[in-house]
Amino acid sequence: MQPVVQIKDIHKIYESGEVPVHAVRGVTLDIAPGEFIALMGASGSGKSTLMNMLGCLDRPTKGTYLLDGIDIDKLDRNELADLRNQKLGFVFQGFNLLARTTALENVELPMLYGRHRRASSDQIRERAMHCLEIVGLANRFDHFPNQLSGGQQQRVAIARGLVNSPQVLLADEPTGNLDSKTSVEVMGVFQKLNEQGITIVMVTHEFDIARYCRRNLILRDGIVVRDEPVKERSMAEKEMDKVRLAEAAAKLTSGAHAA
Ligand SMILES: Nc1ncnc2c1ncn2[C@@H]1O[C@H](COP(=O)(O)OP(=O)(O)OP(=O)(O)O)[C@@H](O)[C@H]1O
Ligand SMILES: [Mg+2]
Repeated sequence: MQPVVQIKDIHKIYESGEVPVHAVRGVTLDIAPGEFIALMGASGSGKSTLMNMLGCLDRPTKGTYLLDGIDIDKLDRNELADLRNQKLGFVFQGFNLLARTTALENVELPMLYGRHRRASSDQIRERAMHCLEIVGLANRFDHFPNQLSGGQQQRVAIARGLVNSPQVLLADEPTGNLDSKTSVEVMGVFQKLNEQGITIVMVTHEFDIARYCRRNLILRDGIVVRDEPVKERSMAEKEMDKVRLAEAAAKLTSGAHAA
């Protein structure tokens, strides 16, 4: 199968400051459909820079990038934006939901300028509702972000990332603002989506979160220094069962104390 991402010797040099910053220094990477990658590395190692290029939000200074076989260097700004809306979905650390807008409307938003932009408002609503169902939040469709927990807000953001049926979901520290239990919940959503065939690339600082993925890449000073499959993968469903059992046991013992 043709890789969905083919990157060959890409570099990114930021020229904005007085001294140019060589943030990515020759990364070569193939990503096959169905992969689930954690991109790791110290602060400043170039993770976000690489993700921005993967996401066609920024172009490499040097090197080639084929997204689903299409050479992005040959596209103008509008064509690149269309390709991005067709092929890619995004999830951010800070959720980036619009505050005065319901969960459902937040999810609908990318459809208004994506590949479904000619869909009727009923079709858009239906598709957005379906994505909220996928992340288990259909019952909260009319809630505003401040009426949702952090994990629920991130699930709305994931539903929004899915609404244009992307081939690849890109997430920059999606669990960065979440406690560990909620992080496992969000990883559970990602694992479910990945099992259904969506390719996922996510940045994380946490080794135990990276173990929910299938492949781990480590960047150092803009270079990939490690690239290996995850051997003993963590499965979110199992971890959540353990948490539930522990919580139930804690309730039982506290009940016994009270009696
Ligand atoms: N727009 C920019 N202009 C100039 N330099 C930049 C810009 N964005 C990032 N850099 C520099 O490029 C390098 C890589 O930054 P990047 O944001 O990719 O790191 P990161 O691995 O995502 O770090 P973190 O874990 O802190 O998010 C850093 O030295 C950073 O200062
Ligand atoms: Mg970053």
